[in-house]
Amino acid sequence: MHQSVLFNEVVEFLRPARGDGTLVDATVGLGGHAEGLLEQYPATRLIAIDRDPRALERSRERLRRFMDRVAFVQGRHEQLIEILRQSGVENASGVLADLGVSSMQLDDASRGFSFRYEAPLDMRMGPDSRSAADLVNTTSEEDLATILREYGEEPRARRIARAIVDARPMDTTVQLAEVVRRAKVGAHSVRPRPHDIDPATLTFQAIRIAANEELVGLDRFVDDAVSVLEDGARIAVISFHSLEDRIVKRALRRLEGECTCPPGLPVCACGAKKIVTVLTHRPVTAPEEEIDRNPRSRSAKLRVAEKVSS
Ligand SMILES: C[S@@+](CC[C@H](N)C(=O)[O-])C[C@H]1O[C@@H](n2cnc3c(N)ncnc32)[C@H](O)[C@@H]1O
Repeated sequence: MHQSVLFNEVVEFLRPARGDGTLVDATVGLGGHAEGLLEQYPATRLIAIDRDPRALERSRERLRRFMDRVAFVQGRHEQLIEILRQSGVENASGVLADLGVSSMQLDDASRGFSFRYEAPLDMRMGPDSRSAADLVNTTSEEDLATILREYGEEPRARRIARAIVDARPMDTTVQLAEVVRRAKVGAHSVRPRPHDIDPATLTFQAIRIAANEELVGLDRFVDDAVSVLEDGARIAVISFHSLEDRIVKRALRRLEGECTCPPGLPVCACGAKKIVTVLTHRPVTAPEEEIDRNPRSRSAKLRVAEKVSS
C-alpha cells in the first residue's frame, strides 16, 4: 500500500482559511492525501487530477464515501487552468502536488519502472507519455548522455550512453539494467551486493523523467496554481529529487517578489511583485520515524507558500 509522504504536515498546511471552498490535488495518486483533506475539512470539495488512469481508478475506489464532494479528472497538472475552467471552478482554497511516481506504479512489474522485475521497457505514467523503449532505442548517443547527466546526475553518463547505443534495440527492463551495470562496474561484476544502490538506479530515474517529461511544465504549474488560489490560500508541493525541488524553490522565490534581473541594472526590469509568502524557507522533510516506516520519504521535500491579499 502506498504510504502518503508527510501526510500530517500536508493536511495541516492546506487547512482552508475559511474552512470551505475547493481544494485541488493535482497528483491524486492513490488518494491518501486527498482522503486526509476530505476527512479533515468536511465543508470542502476536491478536484482530483492524475495523468494515470489506473491511479484515478484506485483513488476513486478509495474516496468512494466522499463521492458527492470529489471530481476526478485525467490530465496533467500543467493543464490546471483548463481543468478548473471545465469543472466550473474559479478559485482554489488550496492546491497540492505530490510529484513523481507512486509505489503502485513502481511495484506494478508490467509497467517497467523497476529494474527489479523483468518487464517491457515502458515506464509510461499515462497515455500522454512516450515509452522508455522508444526513447532508449531512438535517441542519439549525445542526447542520451545529456538526459542521464541532467535528469539522473549520473557521473558515468557518456559511457552508459555509448553502451546503450551499442546494445540496442532493447525491449526489457532487465536488458537495460544489465547494460548499465556492465558499463558502470565492468563486465565481471554485474550483480550488486544486497545493500548497494543498484548501479542502474540513476539511469532508470533519468529515463523515466525524460519519457514522462516530468520537469516540463512544473514551473508553469506553480504559477498557474498560485494564480487560482484565493487570498490566504496555500500551495504545497512535495518533490523527490533536487531538480524538481530547485524548480519549485525558484518559482516560489520569484512569486515572492525576488528580483531576477541581471546584477548591475540600475532599476528592476523583471517586474518582480510579491504574490505569495513562502512559509517554508527550508523545505520540510520527513521525521526519522516516518523514514523508518517508509524509506521513500527520505528524499521528500515539502515547500509551501500562501497567497497574499491583493
Ligand atoms: C507520489 S504519487 C501521489 C500520491 C498521493 N499523494 C497519495 O497520497 O496517494 C504521484 C502521482 O502523480 C502523478 N503524476 C506525476 N506527474 C503528473 C503530472 N504532470 N500531472 C498529473 N499527475 C502526475 C503520477 O501518475 C502519480 O500517480
